Amino acid sequence: MFRLDEKVALITGAAGGIGRKIAHTLYEQGAYLALTDMNEEGLKALKAEFGDHVEYFVANLGNADAVKQLVADVEEKFGRIDILVNNAGLTRDNLFIRMSDEEWQLVLDVNLSAGFKLARAVVRGMMKRRYGRIIGMASVVGVMGNAGQANYSASKAGMIAMNKCLAQEVGSRGVTVNSIAPGFIRTPMTDVLPDDVKAALLAKIPEQKLGEAQDIANVVAFLASDEAQYITGQTIHVNGGMAMI
Ligand SMILES: NC(=O)c1ccc[n+]([C@@H]2O[C@H](COP(=O)([O-])OP(=O)(O)OC[C@H]3O[C@@H](n4cnc5c(N)ncnc54)[C@H](O)[C@@H]3O)[C@@H](O)[C@H]2O)c1
Repeated sequence: MFRLDEKVALITGAAGGIGRKIAHTLYEQGAYLALTDMNEEGLKALKAEFGDHVEYFVANLGNADAVKQLVADVEEKFGRIDILVNNAGLTRDNLFIRMSDEEWQLVLDVNLSAGFKLARAVVRGMMKRRYGRIIGMASVVGVMGNAGQANYSASKAGMIAMNKCLAQEVGSRGVTVNSIAPGFIRTPMTDVLPDDVKAALLAKIPEQKLGEAQDIANVVAFLASDEAQYITGQTIHVNGGMAMI
């Protein structure tokens, strides 16, 4: 089940905690990988963990020209893109009244606008070939909101809505477009949270534990597969029950 043999997957934010797991999981299912991130060292190390049919592409998704060039480079190398995983993301948290224009704009540019530009660039080919999977990494806070994260939450809510619109436009062409909304996932970022903050978080999670990057990667593999062909425009919440939406 969930085989992805010879499907070409472009994964953004591939050098990050969740991106790395997505890469390994799709590769195990037979996919060819185009890994991208702005972290060149991370990409180099990640590529070394794989065999054939894996290449990396360094790109800063905050730069519109770099986004355009990225798709051209991947298509030149692999001939096509079958699966796009818009996973790259960043935070610049601040209280609403203190949030600068720069903090707002950077988060929207990377988390939302880059995903739009990438999806727009790859979807034409997907429609022609009557096959495609676009998967966006949203967040539970894109639905619930979170104090101090107006920029980040807006970008994730935007991702969810954008994907629903695209799903409606391309559903008849064999292309599905979905979002995944992780809750709190165990990453280097959450590992360093103080114990009392962790305890307060866990108290709100029925499963009483943080999620693992693998929990997210499993859903990416499913949504990318033929078995998920009748699922589009959806948001899959992976949060241990902390929000039941
Ligand atoms: N970790 C969590 O608990 C959690 C929860 C909800 C949603 N998410 C989302 O999951 C995705 C992956 O998160 P993660 O936990 O792996 O974070 P991470 O910080 O480990 O990985 C994010 C990756 O994106 C890359 N990136 C950031 N800005 C970039 C830019 N301008 N150009 C290119 N690459 C850029 C980083 O270099 C990094 O490798 C993000 O979209 C994040 O918002 C994470």
